[in-house]
Amino acid sequence: MPPTSASVPRHLAVIMDGNGRWAERRRRPRIIGHRAGARAVNVCIDFCLERGVRALTLFAFSSENWGRPQEEVGALMKLFMNALDREVEELNRRGVRIRFIGERERFSAGIRERMDAAENQTRANSRLDLVIAASYGGRQDIALAARALAIDVAAGRLRAEDIDEAAIASKMALADLPPPDLFIRTGGDQRISNFLLWQLAYTELWFTELLWPELDAATLQLAIDDYARRERRFGLTSAQVADAAPENSPA
Ligand code: FPP
Repeated sequence: MPPTSASVPRHLAVIMDGNGRWAERRRRPRIIGHRAGARAVNVCIDFCLERGVRALTLFAFSSENWGRPQEEVGALMKLFMNALDREVEELNRRGVRIRFIGERERFSAGIRERMDAAENQTRANSRLDLVIAASYGGRQDIALAARALAIDVAAGRLRAEDIDEAAIASKMALADLPPPDLFIRTGGDQRISNFLLWQLAYTELWFTELLWPELDAATLQLAIDDYARRERRFGLTSAQVADAAPENSPA
């Protein structure tokens, strides 16, 4: 039987929304908001390391974000490049294993090299899995899994009738991590926006009006406290969940 909620999520997934509005409210260019957003990423990583969250998946750039004004996309690419140059050493020292999911081939050679290097350098770490979703889309993730299974069928390695949820899950990004327990979106919108569509099936969702650059440890703690109060039923009844884990039953 699946576990009910423990007080700290094992895996936290985040949509970091509101950078542009944060800057616009200060009459500054949007990229200033993204720079402030990069600082909030550090707040979030620090929090996960302190509280024992084992995996953190951040939606840094969606497949659709390529359609933003060229100037903003270019500035974001520069920001990613600088962040990789600046942060990887320290993250490695702190035991963080970094990986990227999404269409890596769409990034410049310079960024791809830095992504590969960050993954290689931190591969042996195990304190926190930091996943950066970059040029990622949830539908694209599912489509790629379907394609991989079709290739296996065509090659005779798999029978079509053996395709089930586990087979699909095994081909998805993050197949080796537990699905996110908690999803946080800042910026006031209450939607998933083509993030981890498959992996979020039973994830607890938490939204805040705060803009991403305003994120602080107190806000993250609010989300965790709210999560700890929720009863996760995974499609079962409350009584079944209470039977399975009496210490976790609701008061
Ligand atoms: C959404 O805010 C944010 C992004 C598209 C970019 C996220 C990037 C960062 C937080 C910076 C650095 C990240 C890493 C991993 C180093 P928005 O621009 O859509 O805000 P808006 O809704 O107010 O316009």
